[in-house]
Amino acid sequence: MTELSVLFVCLGNICRSPLAEAAFRKITADNGQSIHIDSAGTSDYHVGDEPDFRAILVARKYGIEISHLRARQVEAQDFNRFSHIIAMDDANFRNLETLKPENATAQLSMLLDHVPDKIGQSVADPYHGGPAGFEATWAEVNEGARALAGLLLESQTA
Ligand code: 4NP
Repeated sequence: MTELSVLFVCLGNICRSPLAEAAFRKITADNGQSIHIDSAGTSDYHVGDEPDFRAILVARKYGIEISHLRARQVEAQDFNRFSHIIAMDDANFRNLETLKPENATAQLSMLLDHVPDKIGQSVADPYHGGPAGFEATWAEVNEGARALAGLLLESQTA
């Protein structure tokens, strides 16, 4: 069995990537998949902060607690520590490609690349909007996380 480890990445690591991390953790645990899971931001804007309260509330609404998570910034070692690095949007993806060291082993993709009818699409940034945006983020990260978990399950059982 391949050792799988997945890092979800957005800009601030307080909205989208902690929600993707939480959704993916729940889905893979329910599937019985053993995967190391983390999230990080490309920026240092919120390093050490807990998730945005609107992200905490939407996750709690669906039965998942994320208030213990703390934001961190992506670092060069992540590209060799994780088998998969999953960007939430195309700006994060391009930043990760720039940060990626030459000897990087991680596979880089966008979350919605794993959803057949959403290839190339970004998870919209909900930070400057209202609570409805966070509902949409939760739905989208769950769709992506479910698709990614299914793909990795195939590779784990192949
Ligand atoms: P995230 O959302 O990248 O999904 O965590 C944002 C969080 C903070 C900022 C922008 C987006 N900000 O500009 O501080």
